[in-house]
Amino acid sequence: MVHVWRIRATGCEPAQYLYETLSDQERRSAQRLRRDERRRQFIQTRVCLRRVLAGYLAMAPNDVPITYGPLGQPLLDATEPGESTCQVRFNISHSHELALIACTAGRLIGIDVEHLHQERPFDRLARRYFSTSEYQSMFTGAPGDASAVRARQFLRGWTAKEAVLKARGLGVAGGLASAQVSCPVNAPTRLVQLDNDAVNRWTIRELSSDDDYVTTLAVRGAIQTLQMFDLDAACVFG
Ligand SMILES: CC(C)(COP(=O)(O)OP(=O)(O)OC[C@H]1O[C@@H](n2cnc3c(N)ncnc32)[C@H](O)[C@@H]1OP(=O)(O)O)[C@@H](O)C(=O)NCCC(=O)NCCS
Repeated sequence: MVHVWRIRATGCEPAQYLYETLSDQERRSAQRLRRDERRRQFIQTRVCLRRVLAGYLAMAPNDVPITYGPLGQPLLDATEPGESTCQVRFNISHSHELALIACTAGRLIGIDVEHLHQERPFDRLARRYFSTSEYQSMFTGAPGDASAVRARQFLRGWTAKEAVLKARGLGVAGGLASAQVSCPVNAPTRLVQLDNDAVNRWTIRELSSDDDYVTTLAVRGAIQTLQMFDLDAACVFG
């Protein structure tokens, strides 16, 4: 079972009592974010994360024991007592006004979302960050003059790679070449090579939740059931 929680950022400043559900470390991380929208989104997402995890773990949101992996991956602290605590795995991604929290039990999970409407030199970035075979899989059949198609193709490849690297707790520091993907136009994305693991142990799923975003989920193992939920930010944040 995989759950994906979707949170749309609101322009409201989180109320003080919500801020207080965060840990000291989370409050320090929030204070380091200079852009107001990014800081608000971080706080809103962490409040939602704590509420979601509290539901799975049957504990109060501010008691959820969040710790960090060596490269900054937030994780549940497996040294805390309680078998269920170490079983729940999650990953977070945000882009523009959307944040996603993906959760499962006992398996590696990573998610990456990117806003589609970004002005970026996608072709140049693709040549820099993808191997020749990845580049060919992405752009063969994509019209050279259709920049929207090329942007989507780039972001499909990028989010797939990053979702796998995030599931492994590495992020891009793990080396973009350590996971190779194929994402042809009009065909699903596949993982074709992964350092130190068999690709057939992984499931890559593109989530078509919103036309303005490209999202990929990576799970080590099969996805039997995938459920998506909207967290009503207006309800949570007033
Ligand atoms: C973490 C990273 C994947 C972020 O990618 P991004 O596309 O900018 O952002 P996303 O929104 O998709 O993901 C960010 C979320 O991933 C999670 N995350 C952070 N580090 C992570 C890691 N090593 N592995 C998996 N997930 C990670 C966090 O929840 C973070 O959101 P939060 O800070 O609001 O909680 C990227 O910065 C990275 O690869 N970092 C690698 C580690 C590194 O180089 N750290 C440098 C600082 S020491």
